[in-house]
Amino acid sequence: MAKYRIAWLPGDGVGSEVMEAAKIALDTLKLDAEYIHGDIGWEFWMNEGDPLPQRTIKMLKETDCALFGAITSKPKDEAARELKPELQDKGYVYFSPIVRLRQEFDLHTNMRPCKAYPGNPLNYKDGIDLVVFRENTEGMYGGVEFFPLPQSVFDALCVHPKMKKFGDKSPLSEIALSTRIMTKKGCASIVRQAFEFAKKFNRRNVTVVDKPNVLRETGGLMIRTAREVAKDYPNIPLWETNIDAQCMWLVKNPHDYDVLVCENMFGDIISDLCAQLVGGLGFASAGNIGDEYAVFEPTHGSAPKYASQYKVNPIAMLLAAKLMLDWLGEVDMGTRLENAVAKVIEEGKVRTYDMGGSSKTLEMAEEVARKL
Ligand code: IPM
Ligand code: MG
Repeated sequence: MAKYRIAWLPGDGVGSEVMEAAKIALDTLKLDAEYIHGDIGWEFWMNEGDPLPQRTIKMLKETDCALFGAITSKPKDEAARELKPELQDKGYVYFSPIVRLRQEFDLHTNMRPCKAYPGNPLNYKDGIDLVVFRENTEGMYGGVEFFPLPQSVFDALCVHPKMKKFGDKSPLSEIALSTRIMTKKGCASIVRQAFEFAKKFNRRNVTVVDKPNVLRETGGLMIRTAREVAKDYPNIPLWETNIDAQCMWLVKNPHDYDVLVCENMFGDIISDLCAQLVGGLGFASAGNIGDEYAVFEPTHGSAPKYASQYKVNPIAMLLAAKLMLDWLGEVDMGTRLENAVAKVIEEGKVRTYDMGGSSKTLEMAEEVARKL
C-alpha cells in the first residue's frame, strides 16, 4: 500500500493540464502515493446540478489531502442558465466548490506564498517575498446572505438604529444583504498561524490588514485579537494597516512587508495583488489547511480561453504540490521541487507565453523534472 492517498481533483479548463504537469514532478520525486480521481467542476454542475458531488466528498474523507486544479465559477443566475434542460428550474443553486470544500472540511487557513524568483521577467521588483495568511471559512464567505430581505431579518436588524433607513428607501424585495461574520476564535487562529510561520522561518514582521476605522466591530475584533496573540511573540513586530492603504503600500514599498494576515475577503483581494507583484497568478499557489485535512491549489482559475491548448504556466500548480509535500512532512522533496522550479525560472530557457516564451505547459514540467 502506498504511504499516502491523495485526492486528485483536476476540475475544469486548464486545471487538468496543470495537474498533468504536477504529476510529472511528483512521479520524478517518486512520492509514494496513490492518486484517486475525484469528479468536481462545471460538467457535474451542468449534468447533475452539483459541481461537488457527494461521492467526491466521501472519497476525499478517505484520503490524506487533495490536490486541486481549477474550477470555473459563475454568479448564481448565469450558472443556473447552464444547467441541462431537465434540471432547469428545479431549485439547484450554484455554490463555488472550492469555497464549499473550505467550509465542509473546515480548512480554516489559506496560506499563499508570493515570492519573486530571481530571473522571472515578470517580477515587479526583485527580492519580494510575501506570505499571505487568509482566514478561509468566515467573513463574507460565510454564506449568510439574503435576497429579497425577509421581513423577520429586517425586523431583527432594526434593533440597530441605522437599519430602518434602508426600509424607508426601498421595499424589502429590493434589498440584498450579505454578512461579514467573524469570530474571535477564527481571528486568533489565523493570526497565530501567521506568527508561528514568522517564528519558524525567521520572518521580520507580521502585518494584520483590515479596516477597523469603518468596519468597527469585525475589524475591531480582528485587530484586538491580533494584539493579544502578538504578545506571545515579543520578538516579531505586529504592524496594523487598513486594506486600502496596504494595497497602495504593497505597490510602493513591497520589500517592507513579510507576513500578511487578513480575514477572508481582504485576504482574497490582497493575495491577488501580491501574486501580481511576483509574476501573476501563474506563480501563486495556495494551501487550504485545516486541523486534519488540506487542499492545495494554484490560485488561478480554469482559464476557459486557453483550455486544451497546453499553454498556461504550470508553476503555480507545481508550487502548490510543493506546499502539499511540506504539509505531508516530505519537506526534503518539497524543497527540491521548489529549487528545481527556481532553477528553471532563473535559467530562462523554458518559458510559457506569460513569461514571454513559447514553451508549453508540459515542457515546463519536464524541464523542472530534469532539474530534479
Ligand atoms: C481564490 C478564488 C476563490 C475565492 C473563488 C474562485 C471562489 O478567488 O481562491 O482566491 O474567492 O476564494
Ligand atoms: Mg481570489
